[in-house]
Amino acid sequence: MSAAVEPLIAVEGLRKSFPIQRGLFGGKAGEVHAVDGLDFAIAPGETLGLVGESGCGKSTAGRLLLRLIEPTAGRVSYRGTDIAGLDRAAMLPFRQRMQMIHQDPYASLNPRMSAGDIVGEPLVIHGIGNAAERREKVAALFARVGLRPDQQQNYAHEFSGGQRQRLGIARALALGPELIVCDEPVSALDVSIRAQILNLLMDLQDEFGFSYLFVSHDLAVVEHISHRVAVMYLGRIVELTDRATLFDAPLHPYTEALLEAVPVPKVRPGGGRKARRKPLVGDVPSPINRPRGCHFHPRCAYAHDRCRSEEPALREVTPGHQVACHLHDGGPRLPLALPG
Ligand SMILES: Nc1ncnc2c1ncn2[C@@H]1O[C@H](COP(=O)(O)OP(=O)(O)OP(=O)(O)O)[C@@H](O)[C@H]1O
Ligand SMILES: [Mg+2]
Repeated sequence: MSAAVEPLIAVEGLRKSFPIQRGLFGGKAGEVHAVDGLDFAIAPGETLGLVGESGCGKSTAGRLLLRLIEPTAGRVSYRGTDIAGLDRAAMLPFRQRMQMIHQDPYASLNPRMSAGDIVGEPLVIHGIGNAAERREKVAALFARVGLRPDQQQNYAHEFSGGQRQRLGIARALALGPELIVCDEPVSALDVSIRAQILNLLMDLQDEFGFSYLFVSHDLAVVEHISHRVAVMYLGRIVELTDRATLFDAPLHPYTEALLEAVPVPKVRPGGGRKARRKPLVGDVPSPINRPRGCHFHPRCAYAHDRCRSEEPALREVTPGHQVACHLHDGGPRLPLALPG
């Protein structure tokens, strides 16, 4: 997406650390640096994929975006309004416009409510329409996500995994959102069902024009659905660019290594991906005790002295392609203009 489009939502310097208490007697508390300085924007109608290994801060980033948790530092701007400082009442209209779809719809759907009530509940909470209008809206939502009208009387446990996710989607759609954070929405589903749900999400975006932050550790899924992709490592974005560039010409050694682990489809327009040679070794270091310099250097086949001491900034190396890696610092050695 071009920078000329006004973003729907933008984050700057977004951080979240969780305090940890060590030992029974409250020994010195440390901190989990779950999200450690994120900068990105999502345009209207755009899907930004967010990928990275378990524990790198994807879900925390999604929850910060919706302000389900408070940031330790940084800004979240929704159409130019900083929502981080808003009180409950001022936040309400933004809550209507931002929704979430969870990995496990079963855990997030009330087991004692009928499916129709689950989908209609956001309308009741926000006082939208009268009872008849809400019934009509719920019926339309059921039809739109591919559920039968008679299923409105059923309870969540009576649905299959895929149907439950359709229910979660219908509920997320009820208030006419502009942004939906999808946190691993197909990871818990059978492979055969995944494509149906992904295609439904994409069709709905075409029809309603909302934006997605699509969180997943599954690169194949992210490649299918995203317009642009951000790769996270230990709380930071290491690479962000459009889907085609990320999958065909990644620059960060971590992105290369992640792609190495994805099976390459046999038939691919353009002849498939380049063969790469540096698979990912070792585990993600702890977000409590992070390596100095570039967080990725202990696992990086290309690491040199500078990587061990100096943290690389996320910078735009070609238009629309941002990378945080000393191999791709490029440009003049001395900055032409000192940052103000
Ligand atoms: N409420 C919390 N209290 C303490 N630590 C937390 C909390 N939530 C997340 N963390 C820690 O923050 C880090 C990032 O967690 P997060 O759930 O955002 O990662 P993730 O990328 O979504 O992982 P996964 O792929 O496993 O879902 C992890 O180390 C996690 O243990
Ligand atoms: Mg998660």
